[in-house]
Amino acid sequence: MESKIVISAVNIRKEYVTKRHFMTGKVKEKYVAVKLASFDIEEGKTVGIVGESGSGKSTIGEIVGGLQEPTFGNVLYYGKNIKDLSDEEYRDYRKSVQFIFQDPKGSMDPNYKITDILTMPLLTAKIAKNKKEAEKMADEMLSEVGLDSSIKNKYPAEISGGQCQRAAIARALLFNPKVIVCDEPVSALDISVQAQILNLLRELQRDLNISYIFISHDIGVVNYMSDTILVMHNGTIVERGPAKEVLLHPKQDYTKKLIESAFI
Ligand SMILES: Nc1ncnc2c1ncn2[C@@H]1O[C@H](COP(=O)(O)OP(=O)(O)O)[C@@H](O)[C@H]1O
Ligand SMILES: [Mg+2]
Repeated sequence: MESKIVISAVNIRKEYVTKRHFMTGKVKEKYVAVKLASFDIEEGKTVGIVGESGSGKSTIGEIVGGLQEPTFGNVLYYGKNIKDLSDEEYRDYRKSVQFIFQDPKGSMDPNYKITDILTMPLLTAKIAKNKKEAEKMADEMLSEVGLDSSIKNKYPAEISGGQCQRAAIARALLFNPKVIVCDEPVSALDISVQAQILNLLRELQRDLNISYIFISHDIGVVNYMSDTILVMHNGTIVERGPAKEVLLHPKQDYTKKLIESAFI
């Protein structure tokens, strides 16, 4: 079957301004977080991004999902530059690319119950006609991610890290996304819970044909999840290829080092 490319990152570069002149505002210092990166995300597939902390992984994920603009380069959504999308197409793109993060509790408003966290976006985006319909959809989402519906009336602080990450996944699924950017989604969880979340993500991918950008500093975890792996080092993709190939036959010393440190 021919594969379809959902998102392309084309020659992405990201510079952060770290110092401006205090009066003129002229840029005095900048930091290049991503030097040059290009890659495609195919429908139903996972692109893994691995590298040490500070290598530019999150920056790439945020650019691809529209949370940040690249300094140079372009993001294409089904072949169309996101800069050229109509307002409606842009909204569709932003809904179609969702995120889950390392710290699910930090990404949820502590003042709202899980039910509100799930129903509010459905009502705001008018995906659900009324509260009752939104609640029914939220219930279905909770069961999809393996959570008991009794969790609905709890606040994020009252549930475990694993349960909260499941709820965050449920929230990411509300808009029927094409892509989920998973940024270190299991790094803060206990080992036993990590495996459950990774397997849930794999099941969802199989059932819903979602694509993932799976970001982690742990090449073992990335290998388990990914079809293709990009190895990042100091803002550059230093190695890439099919996951098994990169893991079994790494070409770069840097990749070899990541593998050694993951499997000792
Ligand atoms: N808003 C920002 N301003 C300045 N520097 C930043 C900003 N965000 C990230 N950086 C820097 O860019 C580099 C890459 O960051 P990041 O993409 O978060 O890396 P990773 O996710 O691989 O740990 C880091 O050195 C980080 O300190
Ligand atoms: Mg990061």
